Amino acid sequence: MAHVIIKGIGSHVPDCILSNADLEHRVDTTNEWIVGRTGIESRRICLDTETTSDLGYEAAQKALKHAHISSCDVDLIIVATVTPDMQFPATACIIQEKLKCTDIPCFDINSACSGFIYAIDIARNFLLNNPMMKNVLVIGTEKMSSIVDWEDRATCVLFGDGAGAVVLSRDTDRDSEAGIIDVLIGADGHCASMLCCPGWGAAIPVNVENVKKREYFIKMEGREVFKEAIKRMCAVVEDILLRNHLTIDDVACVIPHQANMRIIGAITDRLGIPSPKMYVNLQHRGNTSAASIPIAIDEALQQGYIGPGDLVLTVAFGAGMTWGAALIRWK
Ligand code: COA
Repeated sequence: MAHVIIKGIGSHVPDCILSNADLEHRVDTTNEWIVGRTGIESRRICLDTETTSDLGYEAAQKALKHAHISSCDVDLIIVATVTPDMQFPATACIIQEKLKCTDIPCFDINSACSGFIYAIDIARNFLLNNPMMKNVLVIGTEKMSSIVDWEDRATCVLFGDGAGAVVLSRDTDRDSEAGIIDVLIGADGHCASMLCCPGWGAAIPVNVENVKKREYFIKMEGREVFKEAIKRMCAVVEDILLRNHLTIDDVACVIPHQANMRIIGAITDRLGIPSPKMYVNLQHRGNTSAASIPIAIDEALQQGYIGPGDLVLTVAFGAGMTWGAALIRWK
Protein backbone atom coordinates (compact mmCIF):
# COMPACT_ATOMS: atom_id res chain seq x y z
CA MET A 1 0.00 0.00 0.00
CA ALA A 2 1.39 3.41 -0.99
CA HIS A 3 2.05 5.89 1.79
CA VAL A 4 1.86 9.65 1.84
CA ILE A 5 4.60 11.22 3.93
CA ILE A 6 5.40 14.68 5.19
CA LYS A 7 8.51 15.28 3.10
CA GLY A 8 9.14 18.80 4.38
CA ILE A 9 7.76 21.25 6.92
CA GLY A 10 8.25 24.93 7.75
CA SER A 11 6.60 27.73 9.68
CA HIS A 12 6.72 31.47 9.91
CA VAL A 13 5.38 34.05 12.38
CA PRO A 14 5.53 37.83 12.11
CA ASP A 15 8.21 39.68 14.10
CA CYS A 16 5.85 41.92 16.03
CA ILE A 17 5.05 40.60 19.53
CA LEU A 18 1.80 41.67 21.23
CA SER A 19 2.04 40.92 24.95
CA ASN A 20 -0.74 40.72 27.51
CA ALA A 21 0.69 43.92 28.99
CA ASP A 22 0.13 45.62 25.60
CA LEU A 23 -3.48 44.40 25.62
CA GLU A 24 -4.01 45.87 29.10
CA HIS A 25 -3.65 49.27 27.39
CA ARG A 26 -6.22 48.42 24.70
CA VAL A 27 -9.08 46.77 26.63
CA ASP A 28 -10.22 46.25 30.23
CA THR A 29 -8.17 43.13 30.98
CA THR A 30 -5.17 41.93 32.96
CA ASN A 31 -2.25 39.64 32.33
CA GLU A 32 -3.45 37.48 35.25
CA TRP A 33 -6.91 37.03 33.70
CA ILE A 34 -5.56 36.12 30.26
CA VAL A 35 -2.91 33.70 31.55
CA GLY A 36 -5.30 32.15 34.08
CA ARG A 37 -8.18 31.61 31.62
CA THR A 38 -6.20 30.80 28.48
CA GLY A 39 -2.48 30.18 29.15
CA ILE A 40 -1.56 32.79 26.53
CA GLU A 41 1.22 35.26 27.42
CA SER A 42 1.87 36.86 24.03
CA ARG A 43 1.08 36.41 20.36
CA ARG A 44 2.65 37.49 17.04
CA ILE A 45 0.77 40.11 15.03
CA CYS A 46 1.26 41.22 11.41
CA LEU A 47 2.07 44.77 10.41
CA ASP A 48 -0.71 46.37 8.33
CA THR A 49 1.40 45.75 5.22
CA GLU A 50 1.89 42.00 5.91
CA THR A 51 -0.71 39.67 4.43
CA THR A 52 -1.91 36.10 4.90
CA SER A 53 -0.23 35.16 1.61
CA ASP A 54 3.06 36.72 2.76
CA LEU A 55 3.07 34.52 5.87
CA GLY A 56 2.06 31.45 3.86
CA TYR A 57 4.74 32.12 1.26
CA GLU A 58 7.48 32.30 3.93
CA ALA A 59 6.31 29.04 5.54
CA ALA A 60 6.05 27.37 2.11
CA GLN A 61 9.61 28.38 1.18
CA LYS A 62 10.91 26.74 4.36
CA ALA A 63 8.87 23.56 3.77
CA LEU A 64 10.18 23.28 0.18
CA LYS A 65 13.76 23.75 1.39
CA HIS A 66 13.25 21.13 4.11
CA ALA A 67 11.84 18.72 1.49
CA HIS A 68 14.80 19.42 -0.84
CA ILE A 69 12.50 20.26 -3.74
CA SER A 70 11.90 23.43 -5.72
CA SER A 71 8.59 25.17 -6.29
CA CYS A 72 8.64 23.74 -9.85
CA ASP A 73 8.17 20.27 -8.33
CA VAL A 74 4.85 21.19 -6.67
CA ASP A 75 1.77 19.70 -8.37
CA LEU A 76 -1.00 21.26 -6.26
CA ILE A 77 -1.33 23.99 -3.60
CA ILE A 78 -4.05 23.86 -0.95
CA VAL A 79 -4.35 26.76 1.49
CA ALA A 80 -6.40 26.44 4.68
CA THR A 81 -7.44 29.87 5.95
CA VAL A 82 -10.32 31.94 7.30
CA THR A 83 -8.43 35.16 6.58
CA PRO A 84 -7.75 35.02 2.83
CA ASP A 85 -6.03 38.06 1.32
CA MET A 86 -9.20 38.69 -0.67
CA GLN A 87 -12.67 37.20 -1.12
CA PHE A 88 -11.29 35.96 -4.45
CA PRO A 89 -9.01 34.88 -6.04
CA ALA A 90 -7.90 32.12 -3.70
CA THR A 91 -4.91 32.89 -1.49
CA ALA A 92 -3.44 29.66 -2.88
CA CYS A 93 -3.24 31.37 -6.32
CA ILE A 94 -1.56 34.43 -4.78
CA ILE A 95 1.03 32.21 -3.07
CA GLN A 96 1.47 30.24 -6.33
CA GLU A 97 2.42 33.49 -8.07
CA LYS A 98 4.88 34.38 -5.29
CA LEU A 99 6.46 30.90 -5.53
CA LYS A 100 6.58 31.11 -9.36
CA CYS A 101 5.04 27.69 -9.90
CA THR A 102 2.72 28.12 -12.86
CA ASP A 103 -0.26 26.22 -14.26
CA ILE A 104 -0.82 23.87 -11.32
CA PRO A 105 -4.22 23.68 -9.59
CA CYS A 106 -4.55 25.86 -6.47
CA PHE A 107 -7.46 26.34 -4.11
CA ASP A 108 -8.38 27.45 -0.60
CA ILE A 109 -10.47 25.60 1.97
CA ASN A 110 -12.29 27.08 4.94
CA SER A 111 -12.65 24.68 7.85
CA ALA A 112 -11.44 27.25 10.41
CA CYS A 113 -9.06 25.87 13.04
CA SER A 114 -9.52 22.31 11.71
CA GLY A 115 -8.53 23.48 8.23
CA PHE A 116 -5.03 22.03 8.21
CA ILE A 117 -6.28 18.53 9.07
CA TYR A 118 -9.02 18.78 6.43
CA ALA A 119 -6.41 19.96 3.90
CA ILE A 120 -3.98 17.11 4.51
CA ASP A 121 -6.84 14.64 4.09
CA ILE A 122 -7.71 16.22 0.72
CA ALA A 123 -4.04 16.29 -0.31
CA ARG A 124 -3.53 12.68 0.72
CA ASN A 125 -6.48 11.60 -1.41
CA PHE A 126 -5.15 13.50 -4.43
CA LEU A 127 -1.77 11.80 -4.04
CA LEU A 128 -3.21 8.32 -3.58
CA ASN A 129 -5.66 8.61 -6.48
CA ASN A 130 -3.80 10.68 -9.07
CA PRO A 131 -0.51 9.15 -10.24
CA MET A 132 0.36 12.45 -12.01
CA MET A 133 0.73 14.17 -8.65
CA LYS A 134 3.92 13.73 -6.68
CA ASN A 135 4.14 16.69 -4.31
CA VAL A 136 1.29 18.66 -2.76
CA LEU A 137 1.96 21.85 -0.81
CA VAL A 138 -0.47 22.29 2.10
CA ILE A 139 -0.38 25.63 3.88
CA GLY A 140 -2.28 26.80 6.96
CA THR A 141 -1.95 30.57 7.14
CA GLU A 142 -3.84 33.24 9.05
CA LYS A 143 -3.83 36.96 9.74
CA MET A 144 -6.37 36.64 12.57
CA SER A 145 -5.54 40.18 13.70
CA SER A 146 -7.42 41.40 10.59
CA ILE A 147 -10.78 39.99 11.80
CA VAL A 148 -10.32 40.32 15.58
CA ASP A 149 -12.51 42.93 17.26
CA TRP A 150 -9.91 44.93 19.18
CA GLU A 151 -12.71 46.37 21.34
CA ASP A 152 -13.97 42.93 22.49
CA ARG A 153 -11.85 41.77 25.43
CA ALA A 154 -13.38 38.27 25.37
CA THR A 155 -11.93 37.47 21.93
CA CYS A 156 -9.08 39.86 21.15
CA VAL A 157 -6.82 38.24 23.75
CA LEU A 158 -7.09 34.80 22.13
CA PHE A 159 -5.76 35.05 18.60
CA GLY A 160 -2.41 35.44 16.83
CA ASP A 161 -1.03 35.46 13.28
CA GLY A 162 1.25 32.92 11.60
CA ALA A 163 1.65 30.18 9.00
CA GLY A 164 2.81 26.60 8.71
CA ALA A 165 3.32 24.50 5.58
CA VAL A 166 4.05 20.90 4.65
CA VAL A 167 5.07 19.17 1.45
CA LEU A 168 3.15 15.90 1.19
CA SER A 169 4.55 13.26 -1.16
CA ARG A 170 4.03 9.63 -2.08
CA ASP A 171 6.75 7.58 -0.41
CA THR A 172 8.77 5.55 -2.86
CA ASP A 173 9.97 3.22 -0.08
CA ARG A 174 7.21 0.58 -0.11
CA ASP A 175 8.61 -1.24 2.95
CA SER A 176 8.46 1.88 5.10
CA GLU A 177 5.66 2.25 7.64
CA ALA A 178 6.11 6.02 7.81
CA GLY A 179 3.44 8.41 6.64
CA ILE A 180 -0.07 9.60 7.25
CA ILE A 181 -1.76 6.53 8.68
CA ASP A 182 -5.28 7.87 9.00
CA VAL A 183 -7.29 11.09 9.05
CA LEU A 184 -10.76 11.51 10.55
CA ILE A 185 -12.77 14.70 10.00
CA GLY A 186 -16.27 15.83 10.92
CA ALA A 187 -18.57 18.83 11.34
CA ASP A 188 -21.79 19.97 13.01
CA GLY A 189 -23.34 22.97 11.27
CA HIS A 190 -25.92 23.18 14.05
CA CYS A 191 -23.28 25.07 16.07
CA ALA A 192 -22.35 27.47 13.25
CA SER A 193 -23.40 30.64 15.06
CA MET A 194 -21.33 29.88 18.20
CA LEU A 195 -18.15 31.06 16.52
CA CYS A 196 -18.32 33.08 13.35
CA CYS A 197 -17.34 36.18 11.45
CA PRO A 198 -20.76 37.16 10.09
CA GLY A 199 -19.70 39.82 7.59
CA TRP A 200 -17.52 39.34 4.48
CA GLY A 201 -20.00 36.97 2.85
CA ALA A 202 -23.20 37.17 0.83
CA ALA A 203 -25.48 37.12 3.90
CA ILE A 204 -24.48 40.51 5.28
CA PRO A 205 -23.85 43.12 2.61
CA VAL A 206 -21.09 45.64 3.10
CA ASN A 207 -22.67 48.90 4.22
CA VAL A 208 -22.06 51.54 6.86
CA GLU A 209 -24.76 50.15 9.17
CA ASN A 210 -23.12 46.71 9.26
CA VAL A 211 -19.69 48.20 9.79
CA LYS A 212 -21.09 50.12 12.79
CA LYS A 213 -22.57 46.87 14.11
CA ARG A 214 -19.04 45.39 13.95
CA GLU A 215 -20.29 42.52 11.75
CA TYR A 216 -16.87 42.09 10.14
CA PHE A 217 -15.24 40.82 13.32
CA ILE A 218 -15.16 37.49 15.17
CA LYS A 219 -18.21 36.74 17.33
CA MET A 220 -18.00 33.93 19.86
CA GLU A 221 -20.02 32.26 22.61
CA GLY A 222 -16.89 31.37 24.58
CA ARG A 223 -18.34 28.98 27.13
CA GLU A 224 -20.32 26.95 24.56
CA VAL A 225 -17.31 26.73 22.25
CA PHE A 226 -15.18 25.64 25.19
CA LYS A 227 -17.51 22.72 26.02
CA GLU A 228 -17.94 21.63 22.38
CA ALA A 229 -14.17 21.75 21.83
CA ILE A 230 -13.47 19.33 24.67
CA LYS A 231 -16.34 16.99 23.73
CA ARG A 232 -15.48 16.81 20.03
CA MET A 233 -11.70 16.58 20.39
CA CYS A 234 -11.96 13.76 22.96
CA ALA A 235 -14.42 11.86 20.76
CA VAL A 236 -12.38 12.15 17.54
CA VAL A 237 -9.19 11.04 19.31
CA GLU A 238 -10.95 7.99 20.76
CA ASP A 239 -12.47 7.14 17.37
CA ILE A 240 -9.26 7.40 15.36
CA LEU A 241 -7.28 5.34 17.90
CA LEU A 242 -10.00 2.70 18.08
CA ARG A 243 -10.36 2.24 14.33
CA ASN A 244 -6.57 1.84 14.02
CA HIS A 245 -6.37 -0.62 16.94
CA LEU A 246 -4.09 1.76 18.85
CA THR A 247 -4.08 3.24 22.34
CA ILE A 248 -2.62 6.48 23.64
CA ASP A 249 0.38 4.41 24.86
CA ASP A 250 1.34 3.86 21.20
CA VAL A 251 1.49 7.62 20.59
CA ALA A 252 4.78 9.45 21.19
CA CYS A 253 3.53 13.01 20.82
CA VAL A 254 0.10 14.66 20.73
CA ILE A 255 -0.20 17.99 18.91
CA PRO A 256 -3.54 19.58 19.83
CA HIS A 257 -4.96 22.74 18.27
CA GLN A 258 -3.47 25.57 20.33
CA ALA A 259 -6.60 27.44 21.46
CA ASN A 260 -6.66 27.42 25.25
CA MET A 261 -4.51 25.77 27.93
CA ARG A 262 -7.62 24.80 29.89
CA ILE A 263 -9.10 23.02 26.84
CA ILE A 264 -5.79 21.18 26.32
CA GLY A 265 -5.67 20.35 30.05
CA ALA A 266 -9.20 18.94 29.99
CA ILE A 267 -8.53 16.64 27.02
CA THR A 268 -5.21 15.56 28.58
CA ASP A 269 -7.06 14.52 31.76
CA ARG A 270 -10.10 12.94 30.10
CA LEU A 271 -8.05 10.86 27.67
CA GLY A 272 -5.41 9.95 30.26
CA ILE A 273 -2.60 11.40 28.15
CA PRO A 274 0.68 11.75 30.09
CA SER A 275 1.37 15.54 30.14
CA PRO A 276 4.90 15.30 28.64
CA LYS A 277 3.36 13.79 25.45
CA MET A 278 1.21 16.89 24.95
CA TYR A 279 2.96 19.62 22.94
CA VAL A 280 1.97 23.19 23.80
CA ASN A 281 3.26 26.42 22.28
CA LEU A 282 0.22 28.66 22.72
CA GLN A 283 1.95 30.70 25.46
CA HIS A 284 3.74 32.66 22.74
CA ARG A 285 1.59 31.97 19.67
CA GLY A 286 -2.04 32.31 20.80
CA ASN A 287 -4.68 30.72 18.59
CA THR A 288 -3.52 30.96 14.98
CA SER A 289 -6.51 29.00 13.62
CA ALA A 290 -5.58 26.88 10.56
CA ALA A 291 -1.89 27.68 11.11
CA SER A 292 -1.85 26.40 14.69
CA ILE A 293 -1.18 22.72 14.00
CA PRO A 294 1.52 23.02 11.31
CA ILE A 295 3.33 25.68 13.39
CA ALA A 296 3.13 23.42 16.45
CA ILE A 297 4.37 20.33 14.53
CA ASP A 298 7.28 22.33 13.12
CA GLU A 299 8.27 23.78 16.50
CA ALA A 300 7.85 20.38 18.24
CA LEU A 301 10.15 18.89 15.62
CA GLN A 302 12.76 21.62 16.06
CA GLN A 303 12.64 21.22 19.84
CA GLY A 304 13.14 17.43 19.64
CA TYR A 305 9.64 16.37 20.73
CA ILE A 306 9.26 14.30 17.55
CA GLY A 307 11.83 11.81 16.27
CA PRO A 308 12.07 9.29 13.41
CA GLY A 309 9.54 6.48 13.70
CA ASP A 310 7.43 8.32 16.30
CA LEU A 311 3.66 8.08 16.09
CA VAL A 312 2.24 11.62 16.18
CA LEU A 313 -1.43 12.30 16.87
CA THR A 314 -2.79 15.70 15.97
CA VAL A 315 -6.28 16.91 16.82
CA ALA A 316 -8.17 20.10 16.06
CA PHE A 317 -11.47 21.82 16.59
CA GLY A 318 -12.85 25.00 15.05
CA ALA A 319 -15.73 27.09 13.79
CA GLY A 320 -18.38 25.25 11.83
CA MET A 321 -18.21 23.42 14.17
CA THR A 322 -15.51 21.33 12.56
CA TRP A 323 -13.08 18.85 14.02
CA GLY A 324 -10.43 16.40 12.88
CA ALA A 325 -7.59 14.15 13.93
CA ALA A 326 -4.64 12.66 12.05
CA LEU A 327 -2.23 9.86 12.90
CA ILE A 328 1.21 10.32 11.38
CA ARG A 329 4.18 7.92 11.66
CA TRP A 330 7.16 10.26 11.35
CA LYS A 331 9.64 9.42 8.57
N1 COA B 1 -10.27 40.14 30.71
C1 COA B 1 -10.97 40.26 31.84
N2 COA B 1 -12.21 39.78 31.98
C2 COA B 1 -12.76 39.19 30.90
C3 COA B 1 -12.09 39.05 29.69
C4 COA B 1 -10.79 39.56 29.61
N3 COA B 1 -10.04 39.47 28.50
N4 COA B 1 -12.90 38.41 28.81
C5 COA B 1 -14.04 38.15 29.46
N5 COA B 1 -13.98 38.62 30.72
C6 COA B 1 -14.97 38.58 31.79
C7 COA B 1 -16.38 38.45 31.24
O1 COA B 1 -16.90 39.70 30.88
C8 COA B 1 -17.10 37.86 32.43
O2 COA B 1 -17.38 38.88 33.35
P1 COA B 1 -18.75 38.87 34.19
O3 COA B 1 -18.72 37.62 34.99
O4 COA B 1 -18.66 40.13 34.99
O5 COA B 1 -19.82 38.88 33.15
C9 COA B 1 -16.04 36.94 33.06
O6 COA B 1 -14.78 37.40 32.56
C10 COA B 1 -16.23 35.49 32.71
O7 COA B 1 -16.46 35.42 31.32
P2 COA B 1 -16.63 34.05 30.60
O8 COA B 1 -16.81 34.26 29.13
O9 COA B 1 -17.67 33.21 31.28
O10 COA B 1 -15.20 33.42 30.90
P3 COA B 1 -14.65 31.99 30.61
O11 COA B 1 -14.16 31.38 31.85
O12 COA B 1 -15.62 31.18 29.77
O13 COA B 1 -13.39 32.30 29.70
C11 COA B 1 -12.79 32.26 27.37
C12 COA B 1 -13.58 32.98 28.47
C13 COA B 1 -13.03 32.97 26.06
C14 COA B 1 -11.33 32.29 27.72
C15 COA B 1 -13.29 30.78 27.30
O14 COA B 1 -14.70 30.74 27.25
C16 COA B 1 -12.73 30.07 26.12
O15 COA B 1 -11.55 29.89 25.99
N6 COA B 1 -13.59 29.56 25.20
C17 COA B 1 -13.14 28.89 24.03
C18 COA B 1 -12.59 29.89 23.06
C19 COA B 1 -11.83 29.27 21.91
O16 COA B 1 -10.94 28.50 22.14
N7 COA B 1 -12.20 29.62 20.69
C20 COA B 1 -11.55 29.17 19.52
C21 COA B 1 -11.93 27.76 19.23
S1 COA B 1 -11.09 27.19 17.84
